Formats: sequence, structure tokens, C-alpha cells
Amino acid sequence: MANDLIDLIRTRRSVRSYTAEPVPEELLDQVLEAGTFAPTGGGHQSPVIVAVTNPETRERLRRLNAAVMGRDTDPYYGAPVIVVVLADGGRGTFVEDGSCVLENLMLAAHALGLASCWIHREREVFDSAEGKALLREWGLPETLRGVGAIALGYAAGPEGAAAPRKDGYVVRI
Ligand SMILES: Cc1cc2nc3c(=O)[nH]c(=O)nc-3n(C[C@H](O)[C@H](O)[C@H](O)COP(=O)(O)O)c2cc1C
Repeated sequence: MANDLIDLIRTRRSVRSYTAEPVPEELLDQVLEAGTFAPTGGGHQSPVIVAVTNPETRERLRRLNAAVMGRDTDPYYGAPVIVVVLADGGRGTFVEDGSCVLENLMLAAHALGLASCWIHREREVFDSAEGKALLREWGLPETLRGVGAIALGYAAGPEGAAAPRKDGYVVRI
């Protein structure tokens, strides 16, 4: 069990090309639940996880995220699911809390044979007027800030190998 987890950590890769195959509901549920078991500062569970499969909402997220870069591309690489992680901006640990959730999501996805990639710029997206409008539509408080998202689906091709780890990454005293 412990070795399996270490192996999953070593072999997870960011995937930037996805098939159109939907993610089965039971797998998506498991990935999302894994996110909810991430550690959070003070145990306050500041994050909220929003899983988007609705094509119109997906398109709105695509446009908003790409606009932060001044582009009209798909920053989510065509993945059928976008999982947005928001967290209560009033908590001093909101970035760390959301980041732990994102890592749990990616590792759980990998454990279940799914591919994922952390996607940035959700802070700008959900701080914007259009992002706040989305929060209202979703019935969520506007105090939530974007931490990150993952693209989630099945990899369209083989996943690459990890880059070599840099010298000096670990220091033991
Ligand atoms: C905070 C953060 C933001 C990232 N943003 C993006 C992004 O917007 N788009 C993307 O393709 N990858 C993004 N990544 C993925 C990294 O590029 C990726 O983790 C890195 O290249 C190492 O590859 P690996 O995940 O396969 O080990 C992000 C990763 C982190 C931790």
C-alpha cells in the first residue's frame, strides 16, 4: 500500500491532450471525495470544489481563463471535466488549503487511470466580475477566491517521463 502510493506520486504526470471520452460518474465521485480529505489550516475546510462537465459552463471558463493570458485558446486542453478549486479568501491559509486539495485530486485521478493537469489563473478568473457572476449562479459566496483547477479526463496519448530532479532539491542536516 505505502509503496503503491509512492509509485503513484512518482509516476503522475501533467497531461495536455485529452480524448472526448467522458469520465464515469463513479470515478469522478472518487476523485472529488479524495479532494475533500486534503488537510486544511486549522481544519477549517476552507476550499470548495466545483466539478464542471456542462459544455456551456466549460466554454465560459475556457474563455475567461484564456482571456487572462490575452488569448483565445483552450487552457484546459479539451479535457471533458474541469475541476475548479476555490477557497474562502478570509482564511490566511486559503492558497495552501486549495493547493493540498488540488494535489489530492491529481493523485486520486492518476490512481484511477485518469489523466490531469493543474491549470493556473483561477485567481484572476474568479476575482473578475464575470467570475463573481459565475459564483452567484452557482449559489456560492463571492468571498471565495480561485486557487487553481485541474483538467481531468483520459490521456489522448502516452504520458511522458518526469524531468530529472534538480541537484540540491533535498538538503539533509
Ligand atoms: C501552481 C501550478 C500552476 C500550473 N499551471 C499550469 C498551467 O496553467 N498550464 C499547464 O499546462 N500546466 C500547469 N502546471 C503544471 C506544471 O507545468 C507541471 O506540473 C510541471 O511542468 C511538471 O510536470 P509534471 O506535473 O508532469 O511533473 C501548473 C503546476 C502548478 C503546480
